[in-house]
Order: sequence, then structure tokens, then C-alpha cells
Amino acid sequence: MAKVAERLAGDGRLSTGQFITFEGGEGCGKSTQARLLVEALEAGGRQAILTREPGGTEGAEAIRKLLLDPSGPGWNQQSEALLFAAARADHVASLIAPSVAAGKWVVCDRFLDSTRAYQGGEGGLPDADILELHRVGSGGFMPALTLLIEVTPEVAEQRVSLRDGEERDRIGGRDAAFHAKVAARFGEIADAEPNRVVRIDGNGSAEEVHAGVLKALDSRLGVEL
Ligand code: TMP
Repeated sequence: MAKVAERLAGDGRLSTGQFITFEGGEGCGKSTQARLLVEALEAGGRQAILTREPGGTEGAEAIRKLLLDPSGPGWNQQSEALLFAAARADHVASLIAPSVAAGKWVVCDRFLDSTRAYQGGEGGLPDADILELHRVGSGGFMPALTLLIEVTPEVAEQRVSLRDGEERDRIGGRDAAFHAKVAARFGEIADAEPNRVVRIDGNGSAEEVHAGVLKALDSRLGVEL
């Protein structure tokens, strides 16, 4: 694939911005991978920002609390999807789009595909409705590349237990059947959009998975780190 044409900024940094997302189920290791990628991008001379969804801005972090606090009021499917879209609209408008336009690389831990997987799929909202909410809220803003980190249910459970013990947020705490459905839905999205989404085996060590991430950046965006 053709290399991304990157122009050198005055301070010697590479100045073409990009938007990259990490997706996957609970405990897949995507937050670690997002952080490692930002470190690699910075070491390679790019300005990079690590952010997350729901959240990333003051307003969106407030919505995150409303959505995920286990002692919170709870939401039906429609209000939940609207709140995720509202948080995303603020995040895209205030942080992601301006940063990419300013030549930064924005790496986001979860984005639209999480809504499609968690609030969509069988028994959830139609995918077309979720995409429509994204069009209204965020002008349909999409990442150049999405890295889907996939692990077995056993590895996921082990990592979540190590990280959170018995404490789970309102969505993470749903049953195994729900999380299996989410994982399957992520796989379907990846298969339907192979130009944007790369499936990465997340069962290995953080270093092994990171090597897979760097390989994907090279092959999809022509960026060697
Ligand atoms: P996190 O554990 O990766 O921080 O994600 C928070 C929870 O929110 C996780 O259980 C997945 C869920 N979620 C959705 O249900 N829909 C979304 O659109 C996003 C971004 C997250």
C-alpha cells in the first residue's frame, strides 16, 4: 500500500493527523494497546493523543458517569444509545476532529463500533439507526483505521478479574451471553468493513499484540514505527 505522504512540521515532527480506534470486549487489553501505540507514535516523531469513550472531554466524562455508574438510574436501549451518541458528538467536535486537523494522531479507546456492538446487534437497535445517530451527532466522522483486539472468553474473564476484582460497571457487569453476542457483533463489523477494521489476536503478551498493531499500521497506513 502507498505510504501516507507526511509533511515535516517546522519543529521536525511529522504533521499529518490521523484518527485510530481500538475496539473489543471487556478485558481484551485494548487500553494497554492504545497506550503502547501512542508511546510508539511519539517515539516516531508524531504528536499523539490518547483518549477514550465514553469520555475524553469534560462533558462526555460526565455522561460516562451517568451511563456506567452501577448505582445510577439505568437507561432503556434508546436513551443509552442516545447518551453514547451525545458523549461522542462532544468528543468529536471538541477534541478529536480539531486535533486531527491540527496534525495530531488521535488514538481512541472505543468509538462508534462499541455502540454498534453493545447497543446494536440481535435484540438491540438496528445498525442503520446507530449510524444515523452518528451522522446527526458527529457528521459521520470515522477513523482511518480500527484495531479490533480479540481474546477468548477465558482470557477476558481472567484479565477483568485481575483488574477489577468483583467490581463491574453497569454494562461490563452484564452476563456472559451478552458479552459473547458483543464479541460476535464486533467480528461481523470487521468482516463487513475489512478496509477499515483489522482483527488482531489479543491472547498473547502485550508485546506480541503490540507487534501485531504495528504491523497493521504499516500495512494499512504505510507507517513504520
Ligand atoms: P471501558 O470499560 O472500555 O472503559 O468501556 C466502558 C463500558 O461502556 C464498556 O462496558 C463498554 C460500554 N460501551 C457501550 O456499551 N457502548 C459504547 O458506545 C461505548 C463507547 C462503551
